[in-house]
Amino acid sequence: MGKFQVISHPLIQHKLSILRREETSTKHFRELVDEIAMLMGYEVSRDLPLEDVEIQTPITKTVQKQLSGKKLAIVPILRAGIGMVDGLLSLVPAAKVGHIGMYRDEETLEPVEYLVKLPEDIDQRQIFVVDPMLATGGSAVLAIDSLKKRGAANIKFVCLVAAPEGVKKLQEAHPDIDIYTAALDDKLNEHGYIVPGLGDAGDRLFGTK
Ligand code: PRP
Ligand code: URA
Repeated sequence: MGKFQVISHPLIQHKLSILRREETSTKHFRELVDEIAMLMGYEVSRDLPLEDVEIQTPITKTVQKQLSGKKLAIVPILRAGIGMVDGLLSLVPAAKVGHIGMYRDEETLEPVEYLVKLPEDIDQRQIFVVDPMLATGGSAVLAIDSLKKRGAANIKFVCLVAAPEGVKKLQEAHPDIDIYTAALDDKLNEHGYIVPGLGDAGDRLFGTK
């Protein structure tokens, strides 16, 4: 079974509380998603492989460490996942970015895929799939199905708020992947929204409602 980790650093908890507040503006919401994603990136990238490199300091030659050049891809689930891309890219600027477009049918709560655009060598990359919300888990499961169909093998899922129902569904469907979240909330309501949650992440990020 992959790892399930709640990244509960005080800075993340503080920013997440502001993010959840109803009165937080679109501008502030966007900034907070970006900052939280960057802070989470520190932990999510913890097991990136290193290699030795010989360098010259002003004093002497020395063997030190550098990232081994393992290829990374950040794959946001549209729309709301887009808000998490820049924060992670600021830590790993050489990563490529793929996109998976998906929306939840409001009646059935089933995800509908409408776009997949990935780096050509996605099968050789370590992939961070990002989406602020893991609710029923349908979108995450379908996005990862889609990546695996294209040969992807090394996947981590990173979200801000998860419901227990979504975590269970994702772990059952894809037991090999690691899941990182900034918070594990109580439950889903009858409309499939996370409680206490933060509302509709896409609408709050883009100001569409
Ligand atoms: C939200 C969210 C996830 C999905 C989570 O997207 O960003 O992708 O719902 O729900 P699930 O775990 O039950 O599938 P939404 O469908 O609202 O699309 P949007 O980001 O374009 O607004
Ligand atoms: N999608 C969201 O944006 N919010 C939720 O609470 C559930 C799904």
